[in-house]
Amino acid sequence: MKALIAGNWKMNLNLNEAIELVEKLKNSCSNARDDILICPSFVYLQKVGELIKDSNILLGAQNMYFEKKGAFTGEVSAQMLVDMGVKYVICGHSERRNIFNENDEIVYKKVFSALQNDLIPILCVGENLTERENNVYLEKVRNQIEYIFKKINFENNSESAGRIVIAYEPIWAIGTGKNALPKDAFLMHKTIRATLQEIVGSVFANSIRIIYGGSVNPENIDDLMNVSQIDGVLVGGASLSFESFNRIINYKVTQC
Ligand code: 13P
Repeated sequence: MKALIAGNWKMNLNLNEAIELVEKLKNSCSNARDDILICPSFVYLQKVGELIKDSNILLGAQNMYFEKKGAFTGEVSAQMLVDMGVKYVICGHSERRNIFNENDEIVYKKVFSALQNDLIPILCVGENLTERENNVYLEKVRNQIEYIFKKINFENNSESAGRIVIAYEPIWAIGTGKNALPKDAFLMHKTIRATLQEIVGSVFANSIRIIYGGSVNPENIDDLMNVSQIDGVLVGGASLSFESFNRIINYKVTQC
């Protein structure tokens, strides 16, 4: 399957910085072997969308609201994102869960609404440091996956389930410079895949991309991308500069 290399800009870059970065990426990505995605803030989606229109860079949003329309001040619907040319949307990022109190039910509603609007949700899951230290990290992530996928399956929608991307982002690795070791990421990704196989069956489970996020940088990208269960990366800080994101996009493959 084609890997997904995604940049989550979070609340970073001003308009000029965003334009400069996109212009450079456009040139360097013309022969990219993978799907390359950038997720600017809502307010720059239109401008960035125009800039990448004739390129093979894809546009993603960092969040959305699950309702179709109405009195939800400050929120953005799936259809509004589609209107801006958005193809992917990050759902349930740990910063949304922790800072903005999004729980599994809210995340499920966002994933479901995204699928209904032909957006590809990037569902973020991951454990915090205490959960890792207490050795309950596999269970934590399994529960997060099960909550969402059992409901989608319940609605007889396993075909849509196959389009979802899962981003395993251990919270202790986000913005800390500490990344999961390739063997730990392998174990988690394998566990996620097995959980998916139980819920949606092998065909759909095997078509779901499971990507890794958490302090991905030019130094660790080659090791991470050579782990067999890692189908791409979700990059925060290192996606903000052309040099580092470009090196990540051009990771070196050593595995046959
Ligand atoms: P960093 O790459 O800055 O650790 O952020 C990861 C992340 O949260 C991507 O969504």
